[in-house]
Amino acid sequence: MLSTLPRLIGHRGAKESAPENTLASIREAARQGARWVEVDVMLTRDQRPVLIHDDTLDRTTTGSGAVPLLELADLQTLDAGRWFDAAFVGERVPTLEEAVALVHELGLGLNLEIKPYPGQEEITAEVALNALRPLWPSDRPLLLSSFEVPCLEVAQRLWPEIPRGYLLWDPPSDWASIADRIGAATLNVHQDRQTADSVAEYRATGRPVLAYTVNDAERARTLFGWGVSAVFTDAPGRLAAELAADA
Ligand code: G3P
Ligand code: MG
Repeated sequence: MLSTLPRLIGHRGAKESAPENTLASIREAARQGARWVEVDVMLTRDQRPVLIHDDTLDRTTTGSGAVPLLELADLQTLDAGRWFDAAFVGERVPTLEEAVALVHELGLGLNLEIKPYPGQEEITAEVALNALRPLWPSDRPLLLSSFEVPCLEVAQRLWPEIPRGYLLWDPPSDWASIADRIGAATLNVHQDRQTADSVAEYRATGRPVLAYTVNDAERARTLFGWGVSAVFTDAPGRLAAELAADA
């Protein structure tokens, strides 16, 4: 599964060039040459898994208020592209199923970040994984990840063979024992908080280290030099070109 992990993973699709977590953004990541994309999944009021990052609709759609207050049918009347650029008017908040169909069509690997509305950790993981599992061919690369340990515990229980990435921002002091307990396959860490020593400490656990979010070629090169395996980037095409040009 992780043997095909590329150096660059499209963050929320290709967030620099298209509205994040939309089908257009996934398409744009593939067009730019990304081989994997990362997207965030949350539940609607009627417990349908959809791609969205924030707890509220305000920033990335024409709606407002908390995501779990709306049923899917109502969410689908909102525009999720207009805020980004007039060229994307008509984009919707995609269901996980729609996103997965496109990921297959484009031949991409997927990092599905389980991003529960606060208090909905277990149900979000259960619903998302139960939706994804019947759609996912066993030979296509898939990494499940979350900042929320209860989500990773659900993934471990329901679908143990799929690798889990433990997302860290301000790691708890016992992050290493948590990573062991949940059987984390990767450590997905904030790029800005890393040093050569911190990356070495993470790597000493034997896990690949992935860093979010890196849009600068110089920083990517530094992180790779410290042993980071892959970076999440809003600009997979631009970053690949800049890294190649400076190589
Ligand atoms: O999964 C990497 C990255 O997406 C985590 O942070 O807030 O962009 O979902 P965020
Ligand atoms: Mg994310």
